[in-house]
Amino acid sequence: MNEVPPDRPIRFGVLGCASIARRRTVPAILREPRTELVAVAARDPARARAFATEFGCDAAPDYLALLARPDIDAVYIPLPTGLHHQWIGRALEAGKHVLVEKPLTTRYAHTVAMLESAAARGLTLMENLTFLRHSLHRTVRDLVDGGEIGELRSVSAAFSFPPLDPADIRYRPELGGGALLDIGVYPLSAAHLFLGPGLEVVGATLKHDATRNVDVSGTALLCTPDGRTAQLTFGFEHAYRCDYVLWGTKGHLVVDRAYTPPPTRHPTISLYHQHRSRTLTLPPEDQFANTLHAFIQSVGTPRSHSPGTRSRARLLSQISETARITR
Ligand SMILES: NC(=O)c1ccc[n+]([C@@H]2O[C@H](COP(=O)([O-])OP(=O)(O)OC[C@H]3O[C@@H](n4cnc5c(N)ncnc54)[C@H](OP(=O)(O)O)[C@@H]3O)[C@@H](O)[C@H]2O)c1
Repeated sequence: MNEVPPDRPIRFGVLGCASIARRRTVPAILREPRTELVAVAARDPARARAFATEFGCDAAPDYLALLARPDIDAVYIPLPTGLHHQWIGRALEAGKHVLVEKPLTTRYAHTVAMLESAAARGLTLMENLTFLRHSLHRTVRDLVDGGEIGELRSVSAAFSFPPLDPADIRYRPELGGGALLDIGVYPLSAAHLFLGPGLEVVGATLKHDATRNVDVSGTALLCTPDGRTAQLTFGFEHAYRCDYVLWGTKGHLVVDRAYTPPPTRHPTISLYHQHRSRTLTLPPEDQFANTLHAFIQSVGTPRSHSPGTRSRARLLSQISETARITR
């Protein structure tokens, strides 16, 4: 167990100068008084030095050297998804708490093994699936629980964007690329959030790009034991969409920009009933900062299990195992 005294900040190291680290997570670490950025490592030491200069920290010679530093309590891992398992394992062996990008690993068995390894060592291992930490979705939950749309019958959720740069890690199968793992995890997590862990996959499709050897879009139908359903769409080949719709017996509600709202955006919830509609506008929040707060709290009191992370990983595996592959 790596105990961080409550009177000093959690000292972070970062493995890889990733885009998401630069844009969102590292700025959140720097803004938060209970965390400190100590060092970054990159495959290319010159790249690490440039990043370190930009953010005011040390540059470690490589990933392993960063993990060996005794002045680091926690590591943030924004590596391509296919490398998460290997580097979470090494970080935990080095006694570090871990904040890792979504999805936690590419396989259910690996996710379970890593969560169990962290728990056995008294270390925090958290997936940086930040939208779940935006209070917008708690407000939605409260509206549903308060009967605003009657009994919730179905969820439809979508996240997609147009094709990416051909060199993007999401098109590299050996790095855990593909639309399901990269972006399908969001609508799946929205369905899981509102319909619960009893969800099972009924059917799915994954469109395979033969040139790149990864899935570039997909759909899934899920169902709870009592017949409530979720329909998911995701991919890298549609116009931008990032939303979910909850449909109940008395009305439905729509949340747009549900998964990646910028920290300055006022989120909205649009409520529709047969003869009236209204829109609620909420205060902006930085969901990356919120996730960091949850991480800090967890380092103080590590959890022995993460049922949500496991359950979502199980559903991701079910989709990839049962999907009809289209070309
Ligand atoms: N939470 C969110 O909102 C969010 C948003 C976007 C992405 N993500 C997740 O964050 C992770 C990184 O995504 P990104 O868009 O930031 O990717 P990216 O900019 O391509 O960064 C990936 C980093 O991985 C390192 N790396 C190590 N081995 C590599 C290899 N063989 N090929 C390419 N890069 C390698 C590189 O760092 P060095 O060269 O510096 O070592 C690179 O900077 C993914 O798991 C993704 O799902 C999360």
